[in-house]
Amino acid sequence: PGQLRGVVALDGPSGTGKSTVARRLAGKLGAGYLDTGAMYRAITVAVLRAGVDPSDDDAVAAIAERTDLHIGDSPAAAQVRIGDDDVTVEIRGPEVTLNVSAVSAVPRVRELMVARQRSIITDVVRRLGGIVVEGRDIGTVVAPDAPLKVYLTASADARAGRRTRQDAASGRNATIAETRKDVERRDRLDSTRTTSPLRPAHDAVELDTTALDINGVLNRLVGLLDERGLRG
Ligand code: DC
Repeated sequence: PGQLRGVVALDGPSGTGKSTVARRLAGKLGAGYLDTGAMYRAITVAVLRAGVDPSDDDAVAAIAERTDLHIGDSPAAAQVRIGDDDVTVEIRGPEVTLNVSAVSAVPRVRELMVARQRSIITDVVRRLGGIVVEGRDIGTVVAPDAPLKVYLTASADARAGRRTRQDAASGRNATIAETRKDVERRDRLDSTRTTSPLRPAHDAVELDTTALDINGVLNRLVGLLDERGLRG
């Protein structure tokens, strides 16, 4: 397949297969990859380490200001560091997942992250020609001019099932019912926050992944890229 030209914005709630698909698509097209959720998770790690209350906006903003965050931009090695400290595994922990919605709802945190994300995107597009960016507000806020925006959805059951299997694969065992509650809680918080809530951009293509496997989703995305002439 040819090289990706420009930005693919991939948004949607958790458990839609977004991360796997974003990574695979970027790998296939020789493009960069940015996991914006990992950035909010890393700030959450810093907040928890500092013993700061995640609902204290000013304190959280102050932590975000001084956190030396590094994030990889390649689909092969999406490493996340705070200073020299590799937090790639820690950002997936349950404590972080529980608190990340509060941290990511703080306007100043979003302002800082969006600025970083835009500069990474500009840099990667200059170097590689294209990047797949996944998150919640990529099509609406971070990259509103992206030539392809896709909003992934899936039934609550499908999403809880995928999350449970992912968790089990990394050694965390929760029931589907527990995971479903978690997933629904986080989506509710992410969709109802005041600053850039989770929602599809007006020009996003909505893709329901409930009945599709990874390759099914990838084929659809590649089809959309070709329709728009976004592969060189
Ligand atoms: O995709 P994820 O589960 O790793 O994202 C973690 C949290 O970060 C998610 O619950 C909401 C927040 N987030 C956000 O507010 N904006 C983004 N662009 C990406 C993630």
